[in-house]
Amino acid sequence: MSDKVKTIGVLTSGGDAPGMNAAIRAVVRAGLDSGLKVKGIYRGYAGLLEEDIMDMETMSVSDIVQRGGTILYTSRCKRMMTPEGQQQAADVCRKHGIDGIVVIGGDGSFRGAQKLSALGINTIGVPGTIDLDIACTEYTIGFDTACNTAMEAIDKVRDTSASHERCSIIEVMGRTAGHIALWCGISNGSEYVLVPERSDSQAEAEIIEKIRSKRRIGKKHHIIVNAEGIGHSHEMAKRIEEATGIETRATVLGHMQRGGNPTCRDRVYASAMGARAVDLLIEGKTNRVVAYRNGHFTDFDIDEALSMTKDIDRHLYSMTKRLSR
Ligand code: ADP
Ligand code: F6P
Repeated sequence: MSDKVKTIGVLTSGGDAPGMNAAIRAVVRAGLDSGLKVKGIYRGYAGLLEEDIMDMETMSVSDIVQRGGTILYTSRCKRMMTPEGQQQAADVCRKHGIDGIVVIGGDGSFRGAQKLSALGINTIGVPGTIDLDIACTEYTIGFDTACNTAMEAIDKVRDTSASHERCSIIEVMGRTAGHIALWCGISNGSEYVLVPERSDSQAEAEIIEKIRSKRRIGKKHHIIVNAEGIGHSHEMAKRIEEATGIETRATVLGHMQRGGNPTCRDRVYASAMGARAVDLLIEGKTNRVVAYRNGHFTDFDIDEALSMTKDIDRHLYSMTKRLSR
């Protein structure tokens, strides 16, 4: 073990994601197993600034691997975005003897981690967001569960949509990214997927034409998956109903997509990422983010990770077009 890191902290920040608890558990248990002291920091950076910090023991994380949400709570903290707030956060870490922190969250949370690292607190990011919008990694904690939750909800909407011979537009989360929409579009056999990365003024006209042509060949109901980043599902439903004469309803799935017990994949990958973050701290590393690429867990410099950009999967997107003809 390095002489440098003796006490580590763990916090969750930004939107919660199913699997964050599995990651917290892994940080605590891997840290204790390696002889470190581990402190849980409540409510993200807000709790750090307010010194809402508790010692974590093995039993602190018992019975949580299967639970959605985050036992440490989470927040969005404006003060952390100021130089004064960042300095205060570093000072609080020193006061509590915390010389390494694992930050579980999204890109925004990693910017906070980057600032803490520059102020001398060894900091490692773990990607936790249902949106899958972190460029350096093919996996983020919670995406798999959110997709499964949305997929099951869309299956239910399909039942009633089919009974009434309607068109249904279902809006899924993802902020400015269309990954959840794309995966649900495929897994729910939708006729059209709208994603912000391929925002196109002709999309609605194409949807209307597709509905008409599908009706001509005997299709009696239609599923359109719309990403939050496109939005306006209710207005879209009205326009589609007017143009096609087919009853159209919009369903915005909302925050249910962030809840629920994590899938097996989210539990396992979150555990692996949490444990790896501890190992990086033990190796004396800082300003790194844990990632999953090409079938392996790895890590990136946070500056590099934040400068990378991400598109939706081109092959999956073109496949949606082929399979919905
Ligand atoms: P996410 O981590 O899911 O992307 P946010 O973008 O809301 O979520 O960021 C979470 C928190 O991270 C913010 O509320 C803030 O406390 C911190 N944060 C975001 N951007 C910065 C920044 N540029 N500098 C310092 N802290 C930041
Ligand atoms: O980043 C996760 C996410 O659920 C996004 O998909 C969504 O845009 C946003 O958070 C919603 O945030 P809030 O919980 O603040 O409404």
